Amino acid sequence: MKIVIDTDPGVDDAHAIMMALAHPDAQIEALTTVAGNVPIERTTANTLTILDIYKRDIPVFEGCRKAIIPHDADASHVHGGDGLGNSNYPPSARTPESEHAVNALIRMANEAPGEITLIAIGPLTNVALATRIDPELPNKYKRLVVMGGAIRAMGNTMNFSTEFNLFTDPEAGAMVFEAWKDIALISWETTMAYPFSSDQIEALGSKGTPQSEFFNRITQNTVKYIQENLGRKMLFAPDPLAVAVAVEPDIVMKSEKHFIQVETAGNHTRGQTTVDWYDTSGQEANVDVILEVDPDRLWTLMEAAVL
Ligand code: BDR
Ligand code: CA
Repeated sequence: MKIVIDTDPGVDDAHAIMMALAHPDAQIEALTTVAGNVPIERTTANTLTILDIYKRDIPVFEGCRKAIIPHDADASHVHGGDGLGNSNYPPSARTPESEHAVNALIRMANEAPGEITLIAIGPLTNVALATRIDPELPNKYKRLVVMGGAIRAMGNTMNFSTEFNLFTDPEAGAMVFEAWKDIALISWETTMAYPFSSDQIEALGSKGTPQSEFFNRITQNTVKYIQENLGRKMLFAPDPLAVAVAVEPDIVMKSEKHFIQVETAGNHTRGQTTVDWYDTSGQEANVDVILEVDPDRLWTLMEAAVL
């Protein structure tokens, strides 16, 4: 299965890329980076570091450094100032390709129309701009899997009803949800239903492999943040869930197709994903809203990533 991951590592982005790197059926064509959890210089550098750990040569294309309406908000309080839990891995000797991620997303789709699954696990800036340049893009990718949105308005940002990736670039989100007609969506609420437990975090970090050591070093900061804020030692897996759904679609146990649009004007709700749950709008359903997955299979995929 050919995949491209558009990403802003970010600790859980790293977990997601690790899962994809370890999956026997996933052929990663490219990793495209975007600003989000931390600035673009870090998301690109972190992507290259992950490839160092896994000793894999996969092209990395650097993408947009700012949201469509620029701002300086990020999530370094969750992911550490370096975006990888302040783990202090040495800078990679690898370099990104010279082509811009937006151009690469268009080119790759044209080279293999209908073959590539695009997994977007950061703000949707690159995907939106690629779609603006080539409006046929949705027909050229096999599938778009997105981690983003709070489907029941239980988000994780200071606009409480919004989720980080959509909050960070609402205009890009609106463009993508308008243009793509069959998005598979992992929301924040679905993410919160499948946390890894304290024992599972411990197990993932103590396998004695370089991958497991990497997991351990990059993850502690986020676990501490969650424990301090939610009172329990656990770890969420938003971006790994998106990869899991992309590489093993039958991991999904329950989903519903609905029309979703992204709020760009709201005062307190900018970035909210509004879902037509009862299909009353008459608008064509554009999203397959993933509601339940098989937790055992999610665990198996994550464990395989550190072996
Ligand atoms: C999403 O926001 C980012 O902080 C994570 O990497 C994930 O993609 C969760 O809301
Ligand atoms: Ca992310």
